[in-house]
Amino acid sequence: MPEPPDGTESSVLVDLGPRRYTVRVVTGSRGFGAFARESLAATWAGRACRSALVVTDANLADHPAAAGTLDALRNVQIEPRLAVLDPGEATKSLPSASRLYDELVAMRADRHAAVVAVGGGVIGDLAGFAAATYARGVPLLMVPTTLLAQVDSSVGGKVGINHPRAKNIIGAFHQPSGVWVDTATLDTLPDRELRCGLAEVVKYGVILDAAFFEGLEERVGEILARDPAAIRWIVARCCELKADVVTRDEREETGLRAVLNFGHTVGHAVEAVAGYGGAYQHGEAVAAGMVAECRIAERIGWIGPGLTDRLIGLLARIGLPTRINGCDPATLLEAMGRDKKNEAGAVRFVLPRELGRVELTGLPSRDDVVAALEPLCR
Ligand code: GLY
Repeated sequence: MPEPPDGTESSVLVDLGPRRYTVRVVTGSRGFGAFARESLAATWAGRACRSALVVTDANLADHPAAAGTLDALRNVQIEPRLAVLDPGEATKSLPSASRLYDELVAMRADRHAAVVAVGGGVIGDLAGFAAATYARGVPLLMVPTTLLAQVDSSVGGKVGINHPRAKNIIGAFHQPSGVWVDTATLDTLPDRELRCGLAEVVKYGVILDAAFFEGLEERVGEILARDPAAIRWIVARCCELKADVVTRDEREETGLRAVLNFGHTVGHAVEAVAGYGGAYQHGEAVAAGMVAECRIAERIGWIGPGLTDRLIGLLARIGLPTRINGCDPATLLEAMGRDKKNEAGAVRFVLPRELGRVELTGLPSRDDVVAALEPLCR
């Protein structure tokens, strides 16, 4: 395969017409201020942004990613106010959104104020939700600091919070005005979180890009060693692939955007059944889910075992689980009955037809699914 791009900086355009924006991927660059100024140049009726609510969590409040963001905004005449929230999924709630509305009201934010989300998926989703709903929508800048947020949740405009009884059920589509990805923020990311992000990276190879999957097989050592060029390469390629899907099916209307859910039908069930108490994080559940969904594709004759074996090999080298303790097929199947892709009570899956190509289907029978789940739970 051709040598992957190796520049120190790259840009991906998410070309959504009047809502188009740039994802800038850098390593340790000081250019955030200029990027913010440019992205927020014409926020409302052609007038530039003057103030911003920077939202982050307590783990990041003293991190250069947050402090540098505040200084960089001041340097380009955008007056920042900082909101620091508790880390963790419980923060993705209506009370936290309400706290952000209080902050926005206190700073007399109008539509020339922006929200800047500095953090992982929880902060991006929550701050994005506040940006989508305050004053019927104010501009949003995403500064994702985890691999998972950099390759997935910061791009594409899905924002939201959890209801106490249902994850991500309250939300909106609200595209950011720009996404600033500094891969240097990953230097201090715990290994487990890096691996969880890599599950989503592997997913992009299986669903959309066989050459990228091959590149991951070749460069997994460099990636795990956090080689800056290798990390920039995976982040930029995943953002390109996601941008392409989002520009063709922004609001998940045609089924195309659903391809991003490969591994997630089983993965969400694993999280619901066995994930409590931190036994399996999202990326780990998705890794096991991708293996199970490949086996379902084998059962219905879409692929041979070769693809599943390659996937298991790559996930194992990364250190991601390909089996799940503490669950059984029947319980997982019941949890899948609540998946949002289901139609008329039938569970639908995104399954591979070959490496780099998947389809949404309701074809697998209950027996196919149970047979594929058995080796997962063994
Ligand atoms: N994370 C899936 C999506 O953005 O559609």
